[in-house]
Amino acid sequence: MTGAEALDLYQIEGGVPLNGEVQIQGSKNAVLPMMAASVLQKGCVCLKGCPDIADVQCMEQILQSIGARVWRIAGDLYVDCKEIDTGVIPGAYADKMRSSIILMGALLGRMGRIRVGRPGGCTIGERPINLHLSVLEALGVALEVEDGVIYARADRIKGGYYKFPKRSVGATENGILAAAAADGETVLENCAREPEIIHLCQFLRSMGANIVGEGSATIHIEGVKDLHETCFEVPADRIVAGTYLLACAVTRGNIRLTHAPIGEMQALLRVYKEMGGQYEVKGGKLIADSRHLNRPVPYLKTEEYPGFPTDLQSLLLTLCATIPGESRIEETIFEDRFKAALQIKHMGADVRVEGRVAVINGQNLHGATVKAEELRGGAALVLAGLGARGITRIGGICHIERGYQDICGDIRSLGGNISRQSTEEL
Ligand code: UD1
Repeated sequence: MTGAEALDLYQIEGGVPLNGEVQIQGSKNAVLPMMAASVLQKGCVCLKGCPDIADVQCMEQILQSIGARVWRIAGDLYVDCKEIDTGVIPGAYADKMRSSIILMGALLGRMGRIRVGRPGGCTIGERPINLHLSVLEALGVALEVEDGVIYARADRIKGGYYKFPKRSVGATENGILAAAAADGETVLENCAREPEIIHLCQFLRSMGANIVGEGSATIHIEGVKDLHETCFEVPADRIVAGTYLLACAVTRGNIRLTHAPIGEMQALLRVYKEMGGQYEVKGGKLIADSRHLNRPVPYLKTEEYPGFPTDLQSLLLTLCATIPGESRIEETIFEDRFKAALQIKHMGADVRVEGRVAVINGQNLHGATVKAEELRGGAALVLAGLGARGITRIGGICHIERGYQDICGDIRSLGGNISRQSTEEL
């Protein structure tokens, strides 16, 4: 990102109910670990319908820096891992994106020795990596951390047993990736049960891996030496689908989502219905009507899957900020995820944060100049702008573009009034 890009912004004129149809992009959180998994094989992997977003581009650069060839044909991403020749992930990349840590398990399986800077990512809390390191140690990896750099070594990763003291999506993925090509059997307990874990295991199985139990707390992995090439369809992004459903709700609109992973959206759809939103599934499309949505959320907490996802918390909070009555939302997964709530106060929202609980009294919002500080919180500001009277300008959009391929184009196709302005045009 150049200094100029850092100043790019979205301008929104709010107050228009969204109406129309939009197709949901491929899932960021599903494809990143798949890209990492591709280094476990020595041929070429094709990821069909891979979203072209900044986090994926960053992972492409990391893979290129270790010797992979990466290219796109239309919406598909190809990763050729024949010539991977180093286990050193430059600190600059690791710092940019948290998912770089996911490369540890897979790359160790390939190179035996790796060096990686401590990962960056969204500023939504402490985000420790102790569970990632512990699961690798349980599989025979020797680790040292010095001056923010992780050195890991394992001539052969050995199957083993690890029970996560706390559920973590990324650490579960790392454990699975390390075990997929290890010597012998691995049993992982208290695993995360998010759909992205299931998608990763399906992807690995398409490469020849031997895994059972994903989606439950216990996963068994029998290491397989020769994982092979594959071509795999990236599943749709449940958080992007949730973002557009909530954008429809904020504007009291009426939209159709194609390719929405409806089965993975049940917690959100329940709340949407309780708030007065209506929906039906027809011909595989999610058809949502928010014209009568008018009830606040007395109490909701974010939870691990299948509970309400933390990634949609700031977006739901924004919706609540437009609905008369008191709503309460508790964030149980990340300790510092109310940054967007503070920003929408500049737009007239009545939000009080008491520790991990936000208390919201809904009313009319007005346009203002605000700043995205992290990915989903940034998308929440877009929703606030769509629901507000007047003009909203959002800075820090590089955070939003880490995860949304074309949020402006998608919202414009639903009749919303949003444009992306680059610094040169201002
Ligand atoms: C993933 C998602 C992110 C989502 C989150 C929770 C990706 C790329 N990101 O992040 O969008 O918000 O799941 O659904 O898939 N923890 C530790 N030690 C660790 C790792 C995590 O204590 O080593 C804690 C975290 O601080 C947090 C909780 O565990 O409180 C859950 O985090 P985790 O599931 O690991 O989130 P990510 O995999 O980073």
